[in-house]
Amino acid sequence: MRITNVLLVSTIFFGFTAGANAGYTPDFDGGIDVRLAIQAAIESAASAGGLVPAMPGRPAPETPVWVSMEKSDVGALDGALFKRAPVAQNKNIAVYEFDPADLGQLADGMYRAFHRAPGYFAHDTLEAALQDLEAPPAPPSRAYIIDQGPRLKGILARVKEESIVSVITSLSAYKNRYYSSATGVDSSKWLQQLWGKFAEGRPDISVAAFKHASFAQESVVLTMLGAAEPEKVIVMGGHLDSVAGGGDNPAPGADDNASGVSVTHEVIRTLVESGYRPAKTIKFIAFAAEEVGLRGSGDIAAAFKKQGVAVVGMLNLDMANYKGSPLDIYFITDNTNADQNAFLGKLVDTYTDYKWGSSKCGYGCSDHASWTKNGYPASLPFESTFAQYNPFIHKATDTLDKTGGRAEHALKFARLAVAYAVELAK
Ligand code: BES
Ligand code: ZN
Repeated sequence: MRITNVLLVSTIFFGFTAGANAGYTPDFDGGIDVRLAIQAAIESAASAGGLVPAMPGRPAPETPVWVSMEKSDVGALDGALFKRAPVAQNKNIAVYEFDPADLGQLADGMYRAFHRAPGYFAHDTLEAALQDLEAPPAPPSRAYIIDQGPRLKGILARVKEESIVSVITSLSAYKNRYYSSATGVDSSKWLQQLWGKFAEGRPDISVAAFKHASFAQESVVLTMLGAAEPEKVIVMGGHLDSVAGGGDNPAPGADDNASGVSVTHEVIRTLVESGYRPAKTIKFIAFAAEEVGLRGSGDIAAAFKKQGVAVVGMLNLDMANYKGSPLDIYFITDNTNADQNAFLGKLVDTYTDYKWGSSKCGYGCSDHASWTKNGYPASLPFESTFAQYNPFIHKATDTLDKTGGRAEHALKFARLAVAYAVELAK
């Protein structure tokens, strides 16, 4: 295969109006740290046919990264950033070679065109990017039976708003939890310590860091080993990192996504303090580096698939505390599993008085997409409709005071997640 090393025509987004974007800080480092991947990317390109010499006027990127994105998105950005041919494509998705220095402009263009950023998958190697062109294998369908009412009654009664507030407060006190910043690393170490306490006196519980090859922030994994079928695994969690324009900018990320990690923490706390022991294994994960292209969950879901881990279901908790819409919970229907979403709706109906609906991101907006891509059933119960999402995210103003210092909304997600864990891990 021939690799076309098309040049990026320097693009300035003066054509866009400010309006909804006021206050957005462009991320000119793009949040992609590829130093360790440079050699692999070059070698991968070389073995696939070599790089075509650069056109005059601008040198070829020394350190390419590989970006996969929806072709419909590329169409909307046309004339701005995509004066380049894709390296490969299928009906819906195209893979492009990028100079990492230009990813900031891509993220900025995505934000201006679609009010989201960055909205693409960044890969260290061409090989990994090409996998995005393959349709994810359909997970086997399973029967979802709801029959844990008596047991759940006592467990659900223990779920508390205050402990969710307390963890959001601690996490959002870090200057940022950016995947490559010192405080981003510190926040992961802090969570490892906090979760480590749940393992005391419980030989069936362990806490480990998942180290990523190309960035410093570690994902955090708490494993509750199944007593009857330990090889079957339920995954639940959300991303630990935060972003506000990239780099070391202040990014409290109280809603995006201290809320999801705190809900995950609350599920663990409630289950442990109830003395609950699952029949199947439950892995609670705080994912590193979501905000820079789902990189943490991408590594973990790919590793699980490679090792043949039987993931029964994945619940992504990303943004849970800002009630932007009339209903309580909205299930995101794209890049998720319809059967599992229906099961979650039934759990809401069975165990709560909450009202739920559906919404769509329109792209792989969070870590559930990594699990879907690797053939596992995944869901994202979301705090609002996509159209009405929290306007403070990805800014220094994503703070807990926006919800009056409360976590009433997140509490609903904690109850649902407890029910999900107990009904699925039986
Ligand atoms: N929590 C957001 C995803 C989100 C935002 C979902 C608004 C629904 C409404 C997540 O942290 C994020 O920012 N994702 C990126 C995409 C990802 C591939 C880097 C985004 O939405 O731009
Ligand atoms: Zn985000």
